[in-house]
Amino acid sequence: MNDKYIGVFDSGIGGLTILEQLKEVLPQEDFLYYADRGNAPYGNKSEEELLKITSHVVSKLKQRGCKLIVIACNTATTRCMQKLREEFSDIIFVGTVPAIKVACDNNYNNILIMATPATIKAERTKQLIKDNKKITQNIYLTACSGLATAIEKGNFKEINKILTNVFKDYQDKDISAIVLGCTHYPLIKEQIKVKMPHAILIDGSLGVAKEVKRQLQEHNLLKNSKNNGQIFFL
Ligand code: DGL
Repeated sequence: MNDKYIGVFDSGIGGLTILEQLKEVLPQEDFLYYADRGNAPYGNKSEEELLKITSHVVSKLKQRGCKLIVIACNTATTRCMQKLREEFSDIIFVGTVPAIKVACDNNYNNILIMATPATIKAERTKQLIKDNKKITQNIYLTACSGLATAIEKGNFKEINKILTNVFKDYQDKDISAIVLGCTHYPLIKEQIKVKMPHAILIDGSLGVAKEVKRQLQEHNLLKNSKNNGQIFFL
């Protein structure tokens, strides 16, 4: 087996929040990160369009020698992962989905899920709610159009404007937990906390990293080295 990298991709810098956690859990591994900026944002693309785009990215990473590919993007995972698994049946994929299960399992009463318009619409997201929501819990969904792009550009004025608009309908809902259902959003945790100081923020990055480790162990693909690995950018 010559494939040596763990491939990680997103539409931009969002996936770095997953990469950071991966590096912590699997320090000896080598990572190959691809930010698909040319096709960003993913969150306003149709399923068909996004499948074409992500399938191209996966081919690229596969060619470079990836033993596993992490879809460090909630949009691409909830919309395309199943089809990508069918198309590339020889690749091990680990995806990123909104951490709805974590929020529900921790018994928060009023949960707000922030995600891109495409993730909010996705069947997979609806299924995650159906599978995990307890009868006593309220789950609210909010499509944060333009937020990932504003984060990508570091446009804090625009970020602030979008957040004010997004949260205005939930100020009286006693929101106890916010699920950051886009990998860009952990990058603006501080700004979110200012607007919703009483809510716990939940993201799925640790769960993704643990699942990658589990898959590598199961397939006997862990890198056998005591030295720290490297991160390469494609
Ligand atoms: N970071 C991505 C996600 O987790 C996508 C953001 C975008 O390109 O719209 O959904």
